[in-house]
Amino acid sequence: MAGLDWTYGVSTLRQWESADYEPSLPVSEKSNPLTCDIDRASAYSIVKMLQVCDSQMFQKEAGTTYQRLLSDQVLKTLMEVAKRVEVIIKDPQESCVVMSGCGTSGRLAFLISSGFNKALSQLNQSEVYSYIIAGGDRALLSSQEAPEDDPRLGVLSLKKVCEGKKRVLFIGISCGLSAPFVAGQLDFCLQHPEVYTPVLVGFNPAHQARYRTLNIYCTFTFHSVVQRMQELAKSQKAFLINPAVGPEAISGSSRMKGGSATKILLEVAFSAAHAATSSNTPITHNGVLQHMMEYERTLAVTYSQPDGITTLVEAAGESLRCSRHVYYLGWGSLALLGLIDASECSPTFGADYEDVRGFIRGGYRELNNNDGPLTSLGPKFSIAHEDFLHLILPCLTDTDTVLLIYTHSDDATEVGNMARRVREKTPNLHAVYHQADGDTAASLQQVDQRELSTKLVLNAVSTGAHVLKGKIYQNHMIDLQVTNTKLYRRATRLLQKLSTCPEEKCEEALLKAIYRVDMLTLEMTSSDITTHTCFARNSTKVKR
Ligand code: F6P
Repeated sequence: MAGLDWTYGVSTLRQWESADYEPSLPVSEKSNPLTCDIDRASAYSIVKMLQVCDSQMFQKEAGTTYQRLLSDQVLKTLMEVAKRVEVIIKDPQESCVVMSGCGTSGRLAFLISSGFNKALSQLNQSEVYSYIIAGGDRALLSSQEAPEDDPRLGVLSLKKVCEGKKRVLFIGISCGLSAPFVAGQLDFCLQHPEVYTPVLVGFNPAHQARYRTLNIYCTFTFHSVVQRMQELAKSQKAFLINPAVGPEAISGSSRMKGGSATKILLEVAFSAAHAATSSNTPITHNGVLQHMMEYERTLAVTYSQPDGITTLVEAAGESLRCSRHVYYLGWGSLALLGLIDASECSPTFGADYEDVRGFIRGGYRELNNNDGPLTSLGPKFSIAHEDFLHLILPCLTDTDTVLLIYTHSDDATEVGNMARRVREKTPNLHAVYHQADGDTAASLQQVDQRELSTKLVLNAVSTGAHVLKGKIYQNHMIDLQVTNTKLYRRATRLLQKLSTCPEEKCEEALLKAIYRVDMLTLEMTSSDITTHTCFARNSTKVKR
């Protein structure tokens, strides 16, 4: 068990900010010094490490190197974005807000657009939010990493969503400022300023945006797109929201802090816009700041139950270690967080889709995604509680872990019935339950805070369980497919770090593993990264 002192000094918390700490890496790819021995930690220590890492999101700005979540510039930009959203809500004809991203960034685009569209419908206002996820709706529930590398695909999907629109606020989310899919869309917006206002959300400073050429047909890089946006930002024709939130607890796992911070930033901006249109509440610096600080409190409240979270991590870890399963059975939007968390286990830990699975009451009816039911795509797309009851429950054993996720406003009888049926099969039943004072329906902001809290708990459960299973080395993901350029570069770097061999040697070793050969042919060495990643995609493991 790693010995840990939870009262870290400021220097330890801020060590990653030092200019000589992993200087060649952007913040989103650095390894967090706080978690360097998470792989040897107890469940309780893992939870405490995640708490400290998450709290780095709200650290105050120190010096000029990094903007932070609560920096003045970030709050000002959020206010400006909120004002643009307000205009669109008030005049929704031929206007829309489009959020787009890859992997978790796209899943959060979906979650946020669903929640805010619902809020507009409840007020009898037109829905204005749309989402795009690289790889289409199947990527909401499964890992689709390859489309992330395709800027043309990004543009095509953007054009499709915006057909007939005269005014579009486009929000491209790429935690690492790196996804070509999003860069292509931002570039397209910059070429059509009469319709599109681009907003970039990510968690690296602008100069750390990816500068490698996307592919030979591309005339721009993420970095060059960001530079053009910075120029236009001076006249508010483009917006950059890119505070640093510190390195992820598991290096590069942007589903964690990157995802949480994306949710916080966009919800703060959209809530301000909604309050301005529905109750004439002006969009102010203080209002935006106060709302951000509510999320900080949510983080503190969530982690004020370390023993409860530790119990979940231990139970889930034990299930995975026995090659059994973890099931999230959720209600409403909290169930969506279960589906999202489960879908991330395959790209992050090399997990099978059956290892951690999410189910939502109401299935696709509740999900209400663009493409409707996806059940025909295969068993992993069966997501309704009925599917759990028919397909999973009969084979459930006491080494499986089941987690019910619900609030006091969900149907208690229904939750009780589900709990009873599960308990007939296993005592290993747990709950994440949110209760509010009084009987009134939860406000949009309360829902958002519960969602964040649930996200933090589930991220801790799935991360902690896989750490306990041995899927992390130090604080690095070591069991994943090298299915896109970012992952290929990350894998090469990891080999370098662990072997201390030169980059060329490590890339050679990676290629040998991908092609499963001892000698590389000229064809292999002269192919581009896309060819390598396509090949890697078809093998179950790159390990030899
Ligand atoms: O390429 C895989 C991945 O790391 C996903 O798991 C992640 O959610 C996605 O990329 C998005 O990354 P970003 O937000 O930095 O573009």
